[in-house]
Amino acid sequence: MAIEFSSTGGDEPVIATKVLPEDDGEISLRPKRMQEYIGQEKAKSNLAVYIEAARMRGEPLDHVLLHGPPGLGKTTLASVIANEMGVNMRVTSGPAIEKPGDLAALLTNLDDNDILFVDEIHRLNRSVEEILYPAMEDYALDIIMGKGPAASSIRLDLKKFTLIGATTRSGQLTAPLRDRFGVVERLELYTVDELAMIVRRSAGILGVEIDEGGSVEIASRSRGTPRIANRLLRRVRDFAQIFSGGRITRAAADDALTRLEIDKFGLDALDRRMLGSIIENYGGGPVGLETLAATINEETITLEDVYEPYLLQQGFLTRTPRGRCVTRRAYEHLGIEFHGQTSILE
Ligand code: ADE
Repeated sequence: MAIEFSSTGGDEPVIATKVLPEDDGEISLRPKRMQEYIGQEKAKSNLAVYIEAARMRGEPLDHVLLHGPPGLGKTTLASVIANEMGVNMRVTSGPAIEKPGDLAALLTNLDDNDILFVDEIHRLNRSVEEILYPAMEDYALDIIMGKGPAASSIRLDLKKFTLIGATTRSGQLTAPLRDRFGVVERLELYTVDELAMIVRRSAGILGVEIDEGGSVEIASRSRGTPRIANRLLRRVRDFAQIFSGGRITRAAADDALTRLEIDKFGLDALDRRMLGSIIENYGGGPVGLETLAATINEETITLEDVYEPYLLQQGFLTRTPRGRCVTRRAYEHLGIEFHGQTSILE
């Protein structure tokens, strides 16, 4: 079984949910089998049934769409599926496939039952997407030869493969593409208990000593996201190594995370700026996301995909038809006196 990954990187804040080079580091923290994959119980138990049934029939798994906020393990889950199916997986992403020919090259190189994983599938361009329809439905490529009235098309058969698409924005998928996925699973933010288990597992792989308090402290400040939990674990390990003999206790984790300006709820400086701006500039809301993004000089998409899901889940923010509002809890957390604006939602 071969799984080919490519990753991107750069100077990113600790909270960034993009894949950074170190996330795919030498000692991989990614689970390989379903049994090792912690959390996402609903998606896992459904997928286990589909995998077993497809294997019994000797057929490829139906096409799978995984959606949900970034950093929750969509790529990891896809590679777990490949391992459970005992097939190869090719990894690519929507923006990386520029021309129909790029996709045709990927598809013609697949073997029976192989998996093609397309991250950020909502970013495929239209001409590429149209190649996918017959490929997904009939395992065929329609190749147009020539131009104008003399144009003709030939059909090229493909091996029976599985497409796994991942997206943070399932609403942006076109209906014809969405309808061609037989399995659609939404990944949810992880609980603190699940993240603490992930942190302990990762610490074991990295050979870092950590106690229960240390893993819970990191977990509860990782905004429901394993990628952030693993990144924080690496940073806390550095501080613990220099300041507290290498052992991660609750106090050592708290000290390191405070230095990283990640507060008790896992909020970073941008989260606090976002909430603070709604309070100070817009009386607690409602304010449109684009207006807010312009005010704090951030990209709307970053606020919506990366920051907002956790703030909503933690009850610091609400979405209303007229825009975003902070809650009383946000005032309390930021230590700003609440004067009972009429727009505020409890
Ligand atoms: N590392 C990252 N995500 C994980 C998960 N869901 N289970 C176990 N280890 C992980």
